[in-house]
Amino acid sequence: MTAAREGVPLARPVLGDTEERLVLEVLRSGQLSLGPRVPAFERAFATRLGVAHASAVSSGTAGLHLALRAAGVTDGDEVVTSPFSFVASANAVLFERARPVFADIDPVTLNLDPGAAAAAVTQHTAAVLPVHIFGYPADLEAFERLGLPIVEDACEALGAVHADGVAVGGRGHPAVFGFYANKQLTTGEGGMVTTGDAAVKERLDAERNQGRAPDMGWLDHDRLGFNYRLSDLACALGLAQLERLDAMLAARAAAAAAYREALAGLASEVGLGLPCEDGAGAPGERRGWFVFVVQVPRGRDRDTVIRALRERGVQCKPYLPAIHLMSYYREAFGHREGEFPVCEDVAARSVALPFFPGLTEGQVARVSEALEEALQAP
Ligand SMILES: Cc1ncc(COP(=O)(O)O)c(C=O)c1O
Repeated sequence: MTAAREGVPLARPVLGDTEERLVLEVLRSGQLSLGPRVPAFERAFATRLGVAHASAVSSGTAGLHLALRAAGVTDGDEVVTSPFSFVASANAVLFERARPVFADIDPVTLNLDPGAAAAAVTQHTAAVLPVHIFGYPADLEAFERLGLPIVEDACEALGAVHADGVAVGGRGHPAVFGFYANKQLTTGEGGMVTTGDAAVKERLDAERNQGRAPDMGWLDHDRLGFNYRLSDLACALGLAQLERLDAMLAARAAAAAAYREALAGLASEVGLGLPCEDGAGAPGERRGWFVFVVQVPRGRDRDTVIRALRERGVQCKPYLPAIHLMSYYREAFGHREGEFPVCEDVAARSVALPFFPGLTEGQVARVSEALEEALQAP
């Protein structure tokens, strides 16, 4: 098979000598968990974001669960959030027997619309959970004006910056990052919760470790906790990934710029939707590139386009489906089509294209040609 005919994968992590060296050091040390790499990774991550504290956890989902508990969300509460997200952001609310109350999204940034969120607030609302979807910063200043506790789902948004220059995750609200293998920084599986509040950090650290307070003996637990720890092996990977983060983010931004140029014709001629540009919500906002998601023109069948791309060796997926229309949410809460029209329109037309640092010009051209052919097909 020639290089030109090889398939283009959807995502691919960047790993190198530093990862190997730091992970081997942990293996040789014999301390694979609850060791020094955990606080070292947390400190390095917090410093990078300009926030006081960070707690490493076993996944973004685990981090969301602990952050919601730290925000005081409990049985019977409501949490206003986006239906255009990965399902974990809503599921984490259910873990505490609270109810996710969805509100529609902004058609440009695809983030929770602050006006719609405000309209969804009731006397039962305990928190707002904005998601920085596809790495684009949500309008935190608008959510802060609601005067409610905020938990940020920043799982897709490492490297993103708000209009005021503060890094996403640096505002002091509990903000949750995910380190699954397709993320800007990966530890295989893993996550991090940042916070400006030392008491929240203490609670997160205790609850991720079976409810054991820092000064307690091994088997004394003063509260309910979980095993949401991240291992030293994973934290060593994270430290190595942090060292190369700037380069990886720059490579993702370059891949996005190459796509934007290659797809400009399809955008203007047939109405292919491209991700919004930096500053689309407010000047100064910057995306931390995670995925490159396009929207097929209205009237085209997205799944047919996906099949045509796959036939041409281009891996892609329908990303993201609307949470409220998933069968579990329909059955549990009676959600139906038509509730959140912007979200539903975007979700029905979205396709995630291959996207990772080091995506070559040739691969971008290959994907763009395949997309053009797919959109020309009847
Ligand atoms: C927006 C969003 N929230 C939550 C998560 C959950 O993170 P994890 O898979 O690490 O549990 C993800 C990860 O895919 C995500 O993209």
